[in-house]
Amino acid sequence: MNSNQRCGIVLAGGRGTRLWPATRVVSKQLFAVYDKPLIYYPLATLAEIGIRDILIITTRESRSAFERVLGDGSQFGLRFSFASQAEPRGIAEALLIGADFIGTRSVALILGDNVFYGASETIRKAVADSTQATIFTYPVTDPERYGVIVFDVSGQPTQIVEKPTSFLSSHAVTGLYAYDSSVVDIANQLQPSSRGELEITDVNRAYLERGDLSVVRLGRGSAWLDTGTADSLLEAANFIATIERRQGTKIACLEEIAYRQGYVTVSELQKLADQMPAGDYRAYIESVINEG
Ligand code: G1P
Repeated sequence: MNSNQRCGIVLAGGRGTRLWPATRVVSKQLFAVYDKPLIYYPLATLAEIGIRDILIITTRESRSAFERVLGDGSQFGLRFSFASQAEPRGIAEALLIGADFIGTRSVALILGDNVFYGASETIRKAVADSTQATIFTYPVTDPERYGVIVFDVSGQPTQIVEKPTSFLSSHAVTGLYAYDSSVVDIANQLQPSSRGELEITDVNRAYLERGDLSVVRLGRGSAWLDTGTADSLLEAANFIATIERRQGTKIACLEEIAYRQGYVTVSELQKLADQMPAGDYRAYIESVINEG
């Protein structure tokens, strides 16, 4: 793997308090969203845009479960490493935990509970420039739950505000962030916010202030789903199920993506299928092999 290539970090920490008691033992990102673990979706987003060296950050207690579910990534032609976040001290802390992993590379950070659909071409093109920061917005009806971006009349971003208490903008900042390697220095200078977290919004604001922030608007034709509550998790599962049943194709099937991206050969894919128990998932992989 090319050492200058953009690397990826998936942040799958957090206590999942809004999903308690389901999260008492099992991490939210290991919950099934319809037919596969939630973390497959952000991993698929990275794999589809060509990011293959990925650090997965989990809570200390759930790290071994993630390692058992995901292995070292080589079965998908990817490389997974694992690290732990001792306490949920903010999204930006992932950049400090991952500082050595990032090194001098550019990085894409994605939240382990974010599901993107139909946006990979846009995302791939947008992150091709590794000299600046790129974030993605999505229009939502409940912007107070997110970080939002305010644009001026010419469409230029002017402000980023975390969880605005009064209406400023309906453009939520999604949980996918592409940065150059200077992001580690920025993260090192952050101070915890009033909620005691190192805020990713402060990182993005630093790039905005120095004129290095590109904001890409996702919207019609794509979906950004969040899975933080029981309702949003159910909605995400229904969304995935609707499309998968209608088309007979799977979303975020890492084995299929690995094959279609040329990360694994057909015989490697066949070996993966052979190791799976009989069932719908295996049958699907076999149909990918047979139908191409
Ligand atoms: C975090 C970020 C917020 C972003 C959101 C996306 O919110 O702070 O800017 O819009 O993720 O999912 P949190 O999950 O910490 O509430």
